[in-house]
Amino acid sequence: MEQLKLNNGQTIPQLGLGVFKVQDAGDLKSAVAEALKVGYRHFDTATIYHNEEWLGEALAESDVPREELFITSKVWNNNTTYDETITAFHESLKKLQTDYLDLYLIHWPSEGYNEKWRAMESLYNDGLIKSIGVSNFEKPHMEKLMTTAKIKPAVDQVETHPYFQHKELNEYLKSMDIAHEAWGPLGQGKSNVLEDPVLVKIAEAHDKSVAQVILRWHLQRDIIVIPKSVHAERIAQNINVFDFSLTDEEMSMIASIDKNQRGSGDPNDEEFLKGTMSRR
Ligand SMILES: NC(=O)c1ccc[n+]([C@@H]2O[C@H](COP(=O)([O-])OP(=O)(O)OC[C@H]3O[C@@H](n4cnc5c(N)ncnc54)[C@H](OP(=O)(O)O)[C@@H]3O)[C@@H](O)[C@H]2O)c1
Repeated sequence: MEQLKLNNGQTIPQLGLGVFKVQDAGDLKSAVAEALKVGYRHFDTATIYHNEEWLGEALAESDVPREELFITSKVWNNNTTYDETITAFHESLKKLQTDYLDLYLIHWPSEGYNEKWRAMESLYNDGLIKSIGVSNFEKPHMEKLMTTAKIKPAVDQVETHPYFQHKELNEYLKSMDIAHEAWGPLGQGKSNVLEDPVLVKIAEAHDKSVAQVILRWHLQRDIIVIPKSVHAERIAQNINVFDFSLTDEEMSMIASIDKNQRGSGDPNDEEFLKGTMSRR
């Protein structure tokens, strides 16, 4: 597994398993067991996914030592203060059955993120989190965060796929030495990106699936990917992307199919952000 070095010297496996919308304990546990078997060590959850507890159980039941695992969770938008963030973090730790997180993220740039960040810096300084980062932050959010931050985020996890490539943000994050992590790397199964003719052609040329070509494209952009699947065959397929590479021409062909088409919420939409704060 390729590792990327973060701006604080920590490393992150460049590919992991996402578990958004896995709402069945059995599905989650079998997906995690399968993932561990085929070499995944990086798992991405969040408080709002309501499955941290199952992930904690699945990892505790495995014989993989904690230090080999990379666990990410995220603080939800209903927590707006320093104290609420500290409490939410400790609840996540307990559910995940661990005494530290590898990465903890502010889930969205909703109200109070500068205060949340102050709490995360304190948890980081106490050694309870190896790296701290943000999610769904675009340049203006990052700039506002940096007006009070003492520590620069290590990671920004944002929607990214061939129909929403986030080229400008990618350049900005590179200039800031903040790692770009893609959520929805396969278009969340919502868009028809997996049937795109350009991607189908490239996949045929490499004898790979379209999903594998997309994941490879992300990796070659130095992006961290966390594809979600609850199917053993796809879990195995999605990590089998380190034995081929795309040519510069193929990378350019994929660059040209961008539609700037978001599949989910827009972090620049204040009404959307407000609406998320009442969710639990
Ligand atoms: N920070 C945020 O705001 C945020 C938002 C969304 C997601 N995330 C994180 O990012 C992770 C990934 O994003 P996502 O789950 O939304 O979307 P995704 O990984 O782009 O897509 C998942 C969908 O693709 C299907 N799939 C997976 N592998 C496939 C393959 N090889 N061939 C065909 N279809 C395949 C899955 O179906 P099956 O499961 O049925 O196989 C599922 O329907 C999440 O799980 C979560 O951890 C973060």
